[in-house]
Amino acid sequence: MKTILAFGASNSRKSINQQLANWAANQLEEAKVKLLDLNDFELPIYSTDRQEESGIPEKAKYFKELVNQADGIVISFAEHNGSFSAAFKNIFDWMSRIGRPIWSEKPMFLMGTSPGGRGAKGVLAHAENTFPHQGAKVVATFSLPSFNQNFDQEEGIINEELKAEFQTQLVKFSNSMLVEQEV
Ligand SMILES: Cc1cc2nc3c(=O)[nH]c(=O)nc-3n(C[C@H](O)[C@H](O)[C@H](O)COP(=O)(O)O)c2cc1C
Repeated sequence: MKTILAFGASNSRKSINQQLANWAANQLEEAKVKLLDLNDFELPIYSTDRQEESGIPEKAKYFKELVNQADGIVISFAEHNGSFSAAFKNIFDWMSRIGRPIWSEKPMFLMGTSPGGRGAKGVLAHAENTFPHQGAKVVATFSLPSFNQNFDQEEGIINEELKAEFQTQLVKFSNSMLVEQEV
């Protein structure tokens, strides 16, 4: 059985990206989902001085360990002013200092959602462009616009067209993990 690490890249307790990441990862058959809450990885703002003085915090080491243990990773990004949320960027920066490849060459399904019509496309494009240079295998992406209109707590994505698009991406992600197994 595959282990999927999933999280919304947000520290909001009502995070819509956490809801989407959780639902998306649970659509995979025969997968064990490990859902992270970034509130459990809150750390002082990364600085080279702090790292020199105190080293890498245990929470960052644990985050990297979870990445290493996963067969695949699902992240849904909150868009804050066109970019990553500070909560995600901070644990990412700390974790990136542990060693390369940062994302341990794991297959990734990157998503983003927002209450508005752009569906976090700005931050998603940024992650899609940069993550491959940081040791991630980005195999699938999906943006969900207008979360409150297109997502239902019980049913997940309720817009048929968007759901079909999501399924196509999910299959790509699922297949990429099978390929990894064969290698
Ligand atoms: C500081 C801040 C900046 C934001 N910037 C954007 C933005 O650039 N684009 C956007 O579509 N939504 C923006 N939003 C709205 C978020 O999309 C919205 O809060 C969303 O719920 C965030 O995802 P989350 O619920 O997973 O945290 C911003 C919200 C905050 C609090």
